[in-house]
Amino acid sequence: MTYILGISSHFHDSAAALVRDGEIIAAAQEERFSRIKADWHFPDQAIAYCLSHLPAPNTPISIAYFENPALKLDRVLHNAARTAPRGAPLWPRTLNMMRDYGHGLPRQLLSVCDDPNRIFFVPHHRSHAAAAFYPSPFDEAAVLVVDGVGEWSTTSLWNGCGDQLTPLGEILFPNSLGMFYSAFAQYCGFKVNSGEYKLMGLAPFGKPRFKKLILDRVIDLKPDGSFQLDMSFFRFDTDVSVISPLFEALFGQPTRRPEAPLDQHYMDIAASAQAVLQDVLVFLATTTLDKSGQKNLCLAGGVALNLSLIHI
Ligand SMILES: [Fe+2]
Repeated sequence: MTYILGISSHFHDSAAALVRDGEIIAAAQEERFSRIKADWHFPDQAIAYCLSHLPAPNTPISIAYFENPALKLDRVLHNAARTAPRGAPLWPRTLNMMRDYGHGLPRQLLSVCDDPNRIFFVPHHRSHAAAAFYPSPFDEAAVLVVDGVGEWSTTSLWNGCGDQLTPLGEILFPNSLGMFYSAFAQYCGFKVNSGEYKLMGLAPFGKPRFKKLILDRVIDLKPDGSFQLDMSFFRFDTDVSVISPLFEALFGQPTRRPEAPLDQHYMDIAASAQAVLQDVLVFLATTTLDKSGQKNLCLAGGVALNLSLIHI
């Protein structure tokens, strides 16, 4: 029997899962043990829980880590060089990442599996695609992955067939639908990378009266089936803030303070962002189905999580 321990960490919602011959036999998020919401630390307790399902403590395992830290660092350092010196507010975060990936993470992974040849770094979007396609009821399917950012990919299209996942295309950082959605979450006073579900919940209370403005000015849907952000409205490539002052100017009111009352303006903003997200995801899903020639579709990534309804 083959045992593979999947691990995610150092971003948000760290977790572990144990797979035996292709079947998930244990999975847990670290926050369930640590009681820290969206805990990002190395998931020691979730790993211990998963490994308790091995037939014996010394059973050989391999590790599949959920992304490639070297490639992620490559993107972060390229971005730092491209945006210097404007991007200086992000440099402390970059230095932390270099320390974590250069020292902390290798030591932590080797503490779980002491054979480096049995530790595999799986590209982030391939991990997402696998997590959606392999447990799905389909032998064949198109797979669309949409999130904030992995290493470089923010959106990727796959053809799933049997145990194979073949890449069909990708959209790269900084053009990110996840960051697009997080921008509206931040503008409405919610925490980026965790409060997006509140934006989704707020949307039904509003009218999408800014939808056309967003499609005209903020995000451009391309004839080739991709999209591009107008980066003058964003600052996430140079700053801890996702949005720029132009974003606030476009919608005519300042960013809502976190504890301020929710008025109709922000409800309408949420409804508009949600309506645009729906349209762009249908657009991307159509592209994925066309490119793959498949009838079935699997959706993966944090942005798919914020999708309330899809009709193709
Ligand atoms: Fe992701």
